[in-house]
Amino acid sequence: GSKSENALVDAHELLKKFYHHLLVNTKEGQEAYDYLINRGFTREIIDEFEIGYALDSWDFVTKFLTKRGFKPDEMEAAGLIIKRNQEESYFDRFRDRVMFPIADLQGRTIAFSGRLLKEIKGQPKYLNSPETSIFNKSRTLYNFHRAKKHIRKNQQVILFEGFADVISSVTAECQQSIATMGTALTEEQAKIIRRNVESVIVCYDADSAGIEAAYKAVNILTDAGCSVKVATMPDGYDPDDYIKEFGAAKFRNEVIENSLTLMAFKMRYLRRGKNLQIEADRMKYIDEVLKAVSQLTKAVEKDYYLRQLSQEFSISLDALKEQQQQVRHEVK
Ligand code: GTP
Ligand code: MN
Ligand code: MN
Ligand code: MN
Ligand code: MN
Repeated sequence: GSKSENALVDAHELLKKFYHHLLVNTKEGQEAYDYLINRGFTREIIDEFEIGYALDSWDFVTKFLTKRGFKPDEMEAAGLIIKRNQEESYFDRFRDRVMFPIADLQGRTIAFSGRLLKEIKGQPKYLNSPETSIFNKSRTLYNFHRAKKHIRKNQQVILFEGFADVISSVTAECQQSIATMGTALTEEQAKIIRRNVESVIVCYDADSAGIEAAYKAVNILTDAGCSVKVATMPDGYDPDDYIKEFGAAKFRNEVIENSLTLMAFKMRYLRRGKNLQIEADRMKYIDEVLKAVSQLTKAVEKDYYLRQLSQEFSISLDALKEQQQQVRHEVK
């Protein structure tokens, strides 16, 4: 990186350490620390992920970094402070939040995500750093730098929606865990993943936003050349909730080990909101499954799912094959 980029990273590294100190050693950080402990995070995990606390102050960051030789325009370029309208004065972006440091692929701290301790109307639950010269959201994957060697060793990565899910999964001894930045998975992120591993387990929240996001993510991952499975949980749970309620072993053995194949997930997804007793819904479902089948690359797999459809809906295999040839031309 350039000299100015190095300064922005340095500012993040210094702040990360101080936020962590505030969380674990000070009276001001006590409420945030208790919040994390009540959520089931251990001191060990707080240290490992270098979680911190941003003071309830408008000018802490400016004072802290000024003392260490940084200029306001650098702090602003780093996304850490915000300029007041038309004035030469600034205020801290992150105030009274639990701070999750975000690293780039090499492990340099390039951004933060700050979580509210309790819901505040009109304020986002998580506040992220803005895009800067060192932070490109669409190329960043939370925990990737720590997970990398485990991803290689396990020949597998588990992709989550949220930071808390990654942290819980690591405590459940699945260290090959990463997350997007709370935004939809991008092609660039999928390419970064594929450069390191082929096999991806998508483990998103079991709510409608999570299921829709998972459907989009599996398509992006498949296009990038990944082989994808989807872990599912009881309705309403996210991976962090699940691990805290049912434990690490059950998460590994029942959620991760029993991940659905890509087609099984797509079939389940395509059934949602349909009543297969109704002919129109049934026909739409069959058509959509045939489209998904035609995107499979292995002949044996295609044959397997066509037979499954044939049996479930008592339709001849010949008719399904003929219709699949038709949708294949429509898809490509
Ligand atoms: P917890 O409530 O702390 O357990 O977080 P979660 O990860 O379960 O949150 P949720 O499922 O609601 O959202 C998933 C991810 O989306 C989070 O980890 C964040 O990265 C992101 N996210 C959630 N809420 C917001 C928000 O208000 N603003 C932004 N920018 N991102 C958010
Ligand atoms: Mn520590
Ligand atoms: Mn969610
Ligand atoms: Mn969630
Ligand atoms: Mn959660």
